[in-house]
Amino acid sequence: MVGWVFLRIYLDYKRVQRRRELTPAERDLAYSEAHRRSAERIYRLAIRMEGLLIKTCQFISSRADVAPPEYVSVLSRLQDRVPPRRYRDVRKQVERELGSPPEVLFARFDHRPIASASLAQVHRARTHSGDDVAVKVQYPGIERVVATDIRNVGLLVRILAWLEPDFDFRIVTDEVRRTVPRELDFRLEADSAERVARDMAYRQDVRVPAIYRELSARRVLTLEFIEGTKISDIDDLLAQGIDPNRVALIMTEAFCEQVLMHGFFHADPHPGNLLVQPGPVVVFLDFGLTKELGGEFRVNYARLTMAVMSQDHEAMAEAFRAIGFRTKRDDPESLIALGTAFFESSGPDRKAYLDAEVMPEVNERLSRILQANPVTEMPPDILLIFRVIGLMSGLQKRLDSRVNMVDTITPYAREQVSLAEETGWAAG
Ligand SMILES: Nc1ncnc2c1ncn2[C@@H]1O[C@H](COP(=O)(O)OP(=O)(O)O)[C@@H](O)[C@H]1O
Ligand SMILES: [Mg+2]
Repeated sequence: MVGWVFLRIYLDYKRVQRRRELTPAERDLAYSEAHRRSAERIYRLAIRMEGLLIKTCQFISSRADVAPPEYVSVLSRLQDRVPPRRYRDVRKQVERELGSPPEVLFARFDHRPIASASLAQVHRARTHSGDDVAVKVQYPGIERVVATDIRNVGLLVRILAWLEPDFDFRIVTDEVRRTVPRELDFRLEADSAERVARDMAYRQDVRVPAIYRELSARRVLTLEFIEGTKISDIDDLLAQGIDPNRVALIMTEAFCEQVLMHGFFHADPHPGNLLVQPGPVVVFLDFGLTKELGGEFRVNYARLTMAVMSQDHEAMAEAFRAIGFRTKRDDPESLIALGTAFFESSGPDRKAYLDAEVMPEVNERLSRILQANPVTEMPPDILLIFRVIGLMSGLQKRLDSRVNMVDTITPYAREQVSLAEETGWAAG
């Protein structure tokens, strides 16, 4: 079925491509329509396949910086508006997990969910002591879907490995096998939420919902209900007098702190998992996917960040190697090209998002250099960092952010490097 859908998408684009008689404006329109049709096809497929394919679509829909707007708009529905399960099944799941049905456990429990995403749907409820809560109930049977997904990722990776024999794709499969099953245990999610809440407690402009442990189990998670605007609803933010640029700055700082300072971060910041309150305050939801970095990796990553921000080629080559990147010919040219391409793609103002205007040219140069001397190894810990950078870039673009990457990120990296050097460990 997946193959069939992609074949139809391919043929659709081919047909547009063949219509030589079109004027440029007609061609743009034809492509836009093909984008929309394709996005709709992928959307319907994702709803049928569930699980990881929905997560993949959430990722694509969050990349306003690189994905065509038609994909962003159609696939955004999968961030928090997947068609929900029947209440009967939800009630059964709660009873199985917590020992009693919702009407006994809660003073009020809305039958209609407020949201539904890749693994669970969320119902609004009130506790017997009168607190407003959000109850996240895992879809019954999702474990099986996820197990199949993991096997399919394995298959996909074997195909990629065949197309790109130089790169060791096993790190991707390994990381998926390590992280995805953890998402199904909401007790781990509760631990992660509380950890980030502690790490960020001193920031008044970042918030994480409190957990109700006595109303939570492996497949049900009860959280403080939080009112807020979805971070990508720009019109709504502006109508409330919230400056999207402030929101973008908070996001950038929050991730610098989580990744570089604390070494523990929320690895799934797509717009469905982020709310904004007046202040502005950014609310982090959904700690299913998080990542912990070892101390040495964290400091080496800070060194790499500094090297990229200052475009110091020698330091870049050294930091990439220290962190575990290797190239086929073992000369640093490709690594320097990577660090430079990332920087140049952010445009002349060094904005914290990729600039579609300059990207084609930068990408072309990069792929030429990489073809001559491919990257053969990468540290698995970098994958989720790249994921966060990608999602952040999409979000910053969406918020039309003017945050300057160099000015904002460099101080965090510099501080971590000098702290490590003062205490005399994890030296390069
Ligand atoms: N504490 C909360 N308060 C208000 N809304 C919430 C809360 N937690 C989750 N939601 C809503 O439910 C949606 C799905 O919850 P989430 O934890 O992201 O589940 P999933 O892991 O399936 O993505 C969110 O996108 C958000 O719209
Ligand atoms: Mg979510």
